[in-house]
Amino acid sequence: MHTAHPGNKPPGQAACVPFTDVAAMTAEIWPAVQQDYLACLLAGGYIGGPEIAAFEREWAGYCGTGHAVGVANGTDALQLTLTALGIGRGDEVIVPANTFIATAAAVVRAGAVPRFADVSDGTLLITPHTLAEAITPRTRAVIAVHLFGQMPDMPGLLAVTGAAGITLLEDAAQAHGAEWDGRRAGSFGEAACFSFYPGKNLGAFGDAGAVVTSRPELADQIRTLANHGRSRGAAHYEHERIGTNSRLDSLQAIALSGKLARLDPWTERRIELAARYRRLLGGTGVRMPDVAPSARHVYHLFTVRVPGRDRVRAELGGRGIQTGVHYPVPCHLQPPLRRFATGPLPVAEQAAAGLLSLPMFPHMTDDQVDRVCDALAEAVQDVAEGPELSHAG
Ligand SMILES: Cc1ncc(COP(=O)(O)O)c(C=O)c1O
Repeated sequence: MHTAHPGNKPPGQAACVPFTDVAAMTAEIWPAVQQDYLACLLAGGYIGGPEIAAFEREWAGYCGTGHAVGVANGTDALQLTLTALGIGRGDEVIVPANTFIATAAAVVRAGAVPRFADVSDGTLLITPHTLAEAITPRTRAVIAVHLFGQMPDMPGLLAVTGAAGITLLEDAAQAHGAEWDGRRAGSFGEAACFSFYPGKNLGAFGDAGAVVTSRPELADQIRTLANHGRSRGAAHYEHERIGTNSRLDSLQAIALSGKLARLDPWTERRIELAARYRRLLGGTGVRMPDVAPSARHVYHLFTVRVPGRDRVRAELGGRGIQTGVHYPVPCHLQPPLRRFATGPLPVAEQAAAGLLSLPMFPHMTDDQVDRVCDALAEAVQDVAEGPELSHAG
């Protein structure tokens, strides 16, 4: 199988450091999954095949929940969960301001109102305090986002939601295998939503997602909604309610089972790479994310903060180092969501200007980390010293 490795260098040229390398993950698992692919293709059970139930069992087991329901993507996982819980018109759902827009968009698509909470300056995650501040008499739920791969203080959030009588949901799209005191992401909330977008820590060969929950009736409702409103065991044209088409398909389930077998070693490698970044970037003026002692951070992203971010980023780009920005604009300031904003959220707003995500993927080499750190330290210094950039390309 041909694989593109963007970090490979043609002779005589400096290699670039890609932001991620999904093809390397595919190449690693392909020998193990190719027979299953062929068998599925020849059997023809592309929708609803046995591979889906197999992956759902494996994923629920991995997360420590009773049930997993495969769906088409992480955004649908969130919207279907809200709808299945009866959350919609007239209800408010709290989401952190610093997240991918899908978290808030799912609330709007479910017919409810997103209310934005500020985040911790150290972890950039929602806190029990910022959650409590955002609660109103209309609040039905909060979606805690395990941004970058780290869970917020889940027991603290549960204490607040328990006292207020609201539902805790998890957006674990970036946190496959993350833990709080040894308990897995997905096992704290009424339900947790995962994306298996290809670049995620557990990624499919296209779009895919899942909801995990230990409430069987909630799992059933989500499955019904995701399958044109057909309840479990119903005939093909027997519809219990208006649903949608948001199913995980058999080929994606095969890819996910294949990759799940490699998720733990890949996560360990991410953690090692993060430790190397921390060692090499100490004392350079680059602000690294805090990690709570109870948290197992799985480093979907290694997001730092630097002054003069756009210039630093341009200088890194000029040296062939790809970076990302997660996220340049907090949700409450995004044009389609501004109407829901209730005031400034200073931590999320101030942090946004400095956020810079560095390359991070399981097949990254130590040498690549070293090159990113050398270049970043120089770029930060150049920006601190003046407007001229010595390496911008
Ligand atoms: C935090 C977060 N929530 C939700 C989503 C949406 O997932 P999907 O792209 O699978 O719809 C993503 C994916 O990028 C995400 O990072």
